[in-house]
Amino acid sequence: MNNSRQILAPLRGVTTRSFRLAFAQQLTEAGFDEAVTPFIPASSSYDVLRDRELEGGESIFLTPQFIGKDPYALKESLKRILDAGYKTADLNVGCPYPVVRNKCRGAGLLANPSLLESMIEGGCSIMGEGCFSIKTRLGINSPDELFKFIDVFNRYPLRFITVHSRTAKQMYEGSCDIERLNEIIKLSKIPIVANGDIQMTHSFKTPVMIGRAFVRHLGERNDANILLMHYKETLLKERFSSNAVLGKLKELLSYWRHIPRWNRLWPVLKLSRALDEFTV
Ligand SMILES: Cc1cc2nc3c(=O)[nH]c(=O)nc-3n(C[C@H](O)[C@H](O)[C@H](O)COP(=O)(O)O)c2cc1C
Repeated sequence: MNNSRQILAPLRGVTTRSFRLAFAQQLTEAGFDEAVTPFIPASSSYDVLRDRELEGGESIFLTPQFIGKDPYALKESLKRILDAGYKTADLNVGCPYPVVRNKCRGAGLLANPSLLESMIEGGCSIMGEGCFSIKTRLGINSPDELFKFIDVFNRYPLRFITVHSRTAKQMYEGSCDIERLNEIIKLSKIPIVANGDIQMTHSFKTPVMIGRAFVRHLGERNDANILLMHYKETLLKERFSSNAVLGKLKELLSYWRHIPRWNRLWPVLKLSRALDEFTV
């Protein structure tokens, strides 16, 4: 991977397929060359190809992300996406919510090293060398937990490891631990993608994954009004109900609240009860 690599982070409910379709041009202008989808369940009862995230028609290189704890179900899901033409896949090893991690999914896999290794082994075996990646955190409770996995990760032909440099316990609070991230970069034979609070004007030499800063950046642009209305049209074209569209517009605006102009409009817009009341 080259050093200027910039990947759009999966933000469930935000950087979805409709978002990526609506803002494809802005993503390219901002230097993104890949997007990882918000997580898709890898379970035997779920048909991954029916997931909205994988409806296709996107110009950006797309890597589907999976969440789960069953290596067999993961392998079956990966076979399905390979057949559908996807070349890469990612495993969520970072979701911090207790309801997820207490069931050994997301960051919970860090508490089950042998299961995590089986998932990685299964993922690499189906996707092939350099085509399967993982996205993780520094640990669950302590920022030193990831270090003990480095030797294990180094044994597999992983494409890259994205490290959100917080612990799961931190959720999205407190600061990222760049010092530990740099130590991991030094120790890992697998390319590390840095993640967590990275701004659009970053000067990282390593590949980066950026989520919220890009979402905020859209609201800071002079054409943010037009972008917002374009998002609305895209969502309607994608067959979302008008209530769902309203919810998604409010969600996007919640990332723009700190911007003075949107800060003034937010109290009114958040109270809109119907889509036609929502005008900017
Ligand atoms: C609303 C929201 C949804 C998220 N959904 C996912 C997800 O589906 N998969 C995942 O690996 N990480 C998910 N994350 C974590 C982000 O991908 C990313 O690691 C985190 O936001 C830090 O990066 P950022 O500061 O650039 O946004 C989510 C984060 C937020 C705030």
